[in-house]
Amino acid sequence: MGSAWLIRLTILAGAGLVVAAGGLVITRPQRIEPSRLAGFSADLANGAYLFDAAGCASCHAAPKAEGPERFKLGGGRRLATPFGTFHVPNISPDRRTGIGTWTVAEIVDAIAAGVGRDGSHQYPAMPYASYGRMSLADAHDLAAFLKTLPAVENEVPPHELGFPFGIRLGIGLWKLVNFNPGPVVALPAATPEVLRGRYLVEGPGHCGECHTPRDAGGGTLRSRWLAGAPAMEGPGRVPDLTPHPKALGPWSVADITGYLETGFKPDGDTAGGPMVEVIDNTARLTPEDRRAIALYLKAVPAIAPEPRPVTVK
Ligand code: HEC
Ligand code: HEC
Repeated sequence: MGSAWLIRLTILAGAGLVVAAGGLVITRPQRIEPSRLAGFSADLANGAYLFDAAGCASCHAAPKAEGPERFKLGGGRRLATPFGTFHVPNISPDRRTGIGTWTVAEIVDAIAAGVGRDGSHQYPAMPYASYGRMSLADAHDLAAFLKTLPAVENEVPPHELGFPFGIRLGIGLWKLVNFNPGPVVALPAATPEVLRGRYLVEGPGHCGECHTPRDAGGGTLRSRWLAGAPAMEGPGRVPDLTPHPKALGPWSVADITGYLETGFKPDGDTAGGPMVEVIDNTARLTPEDRRAIALYLKAVPAIAPEPRPVTVK
């Protein structure tokens, strides 16, 4: 090998290192600047409301938890995904097995920035891509509220993820593409009510995490926002929520608010699957907020649902 080759190789390797180092800098976990949280007082009633609006119990409490059990966030549920199995962590204030030693600011980082206490990226199985759209004041109130909940002693095993998904560093790249805390649907002429609905659906309500299909990289497809998606577990589909005639077009605003309160569809059928736990939460919102959600769903672009796969008998 001639020296010209050696020089070229050295330059290439050097360039490679610079790109890799640059990549690590751009994709490194970004905490929320502490000064942005300074001066917030903890409004615990608002934190409790956000807890319902954001459905934290749906993953972090025991399955089918009701009443006071919804506030016992000992974790332990398994979430099976194409990338492996996640074991939902204990986020109760237990000091040994939960997050009792975390500061409010560290909890806000996990909710709204997808950064763990040790400064590493959180997996997007925790829906911070949506929660990142919460106002910092709301995220702060919610974090302060979590600290008031009962401590639950429960050791949760580590996630079981295949290579390379076990490497948290790679999540930085996912975030670069998919973590965009701005609004999804631009609604320039919307009323404050519709904008409140957008906030609730795109942010804390994280409705798009189930109702929007994902690309190969696991990011939600903005071109098919809320247009329905394959069910995460089992066959079947999560329905299209856009105002398309084959989707929620025929539902009135009252049909939608009624469903979010009681689970009854206009045809008398009742909600099933993972939507049952969502309605457990939306039923606790104010009627004004359920109406805001319905008005937003009427304002998003109408997109035809994917045709159902033909079942061969
Ligand atoms: C769809 C299920 C799901 C929902 C809903 C959810 N989480 Fe999580 N959460 C997870 C998973 C999975 C992790 C683990 C992520 C990781 O290991 O990177 C997690 C991690 C966390 C952590 C970090 C815990 C630790 O030990 O590292 C906190 C704090 C947290 N969630 C708070 C919340 C709050 C507050 C809410 C409601 C606003 C919420 N989560 C809603 C699934 C969920
Ligand atoms: C954990 C996944 C998940 C989340 C999060 C979720 N949904 Fe759903 N949703 C479903 C599933 C699954 C169904 C179908 C339920 C059934 O089979 O009865 C559904 C059904 C619905 C329906 C009825 C549509 C129809 O045509 O029958 C509406 C309306 C709806 N969801 C609104 C929402 C709103 C608003 C949010 C956010 C506040 C939300 N969903 C969050 C999974 C989810």
